[in-house]
Amino acid sequence: MFTFLLILHLIAVCCWLGGALYERFFIVGGIRKAKGTELEASMLKLMLSTVPFFLTSVLTILITGIIMTIMHNYIFLSWSWIGLKQYIMLIALLGFFFYIGPRMGKIGKQLNRNLEVGKGLDDEMRSQFNHIIVLFDIMHIGVLINLILGLTKFF
Ligand code: HEM
Repeated sequence: MFTFLLILHLIAVCCWLGGALYERFFIVGGIRKAKGTELEASMLKLMLSTVPFFLTSVLTILITGIIMTIMHNYIFLSWSWIGLKQYIMLIALLGFFFYIGPRMGKIGKQLNRNLEVGKGLDDEMRSQFNHIIVLFDIMHIGVLINLILGLTKFF
């Protein structure tokens, strides 16, 4: 059972990090290159539509992580490799649900309104988008730290 959960945990980590790298370099790069063209709005829509994929990975990591923590009698939110992993995940989740998610929703709604009147992104939306990308970069550095903590368990 533990091995099964660990495999699920690691597949979800691969999906999250792999998806994030693809999105960061190809989709975000594409959006920036397509600035001012019709493709810019389509690529932004594509990026916004990936949220359910990432949320599924995050929830899988969280649920399998919690069950494995209990199975191995590790302590929750302690000062150790496992506790730090949990704190990082908690901050990422809170950051996403209370800050990044609502802003992404706003950009999506604004984009739909603009598309209805034949417009694409404006500079305000581009600056909000860039702000979100910086936050995602910080979050993904956290995921990378978690990967290192999980593999090394060094304290
Ligand atoms: C982005 C977040 C996370 C990443 C990248 C990550 C990464 C990893 C990795 C690479 C391992 C494999 C360790 C090994 O070599 O056996 C692992 C194991 C584990 N993770 Fe995570 N993890 C994350 C989040 C979490 C969370 C939130 C929890 C708890 C709530 C958790 C609990 C565990 C547990 C209990 C194990 C098994 C440790 C053992 O073998 O005793 N992980 N994780």
